[in-house]
Amino acid sequence: MQHAPIIAPSILAADFSRLGEEIARISTADWVHVDIMDGHFVPNLSFGPDITATVRALTDKPLDVHLMIENPERWVERYARAGATTLIFHVEATEDPVRLARTIRDLGVRAAFSLKPATPIEPYLPHLEHFDEVLVMSVEPGFGGQSFMPDQLDKVRTLRREIDARGLATLIEIDGGISEETIAAAAQAGCDAFVAGSAVYKAEDPAGMVTSLRERARLS
Ligand code: DX5
Ligand code: ZN
Repeated sequence: MQHAPIIAPSILAADFSRLGEEIARISTADWVHVDIMDGHFVPNLSFGPDITATVRALTDKPLDVHLMIENPERWVERYARAGATTLIFHVEATEDPVRLARTIRDLGVRAAFSLKPATPIEPYLPHLEHFDEVLVMSVEPGFGGQSFMPDQLDKVRTLRREIDARGLATLIEIDGGISEETIAAAAQAGCDAFVAGSAVYKAEDPAGMVTSLRERARLS
């Protein structure tokens, strides 16, 4: 069953020189999405466990930590200690997603996987019970501010059917190009949670934008 819309602003689009204020500006958010990039898995570098721990200290909201990194096995314990609520790794970066999900859950953290736009969802459908969340990328991971790829909603519809047919609690989240223009289509396809970076932080009133996004997802 589809969840009431969860809005997760990405702090990748925030001003890191004043992170405390930037997090205070998204008071209406449900989760905070934390984008970790290693310069290898994606051609961009963001920050690591120390900044994640700083974010943890600045908010009580759940931290949705998106690991766009190689060798996620080596890092999950450090991000768990940094205060992640959910750890999302990329299936392209691991040989055994189910084993990694078990490791993450054993650390007391919610387990999730993400897929790049070119990666099909079908091989992962039989294993969804090991995951609390699936993050569908609707842009090529690496950078904020890109255009939404509507063809990725086929993956969302496939996941929605499978999750509902099996009565699973796995949440479907979408990441990339989510705005007031695109969120309704993603909600209609069956998403529960929505990451938004530039749409939220480019707005004059980020907290108001979060509320507006949630309304548009709800009405769709
Ligand atoms: C992209 C990141 C996204 C990004 C979203 O690699 O995973 O979370 O920050 O930014 P927007 O909403 O601007 O597409
Ligand atoms: Zn992300």
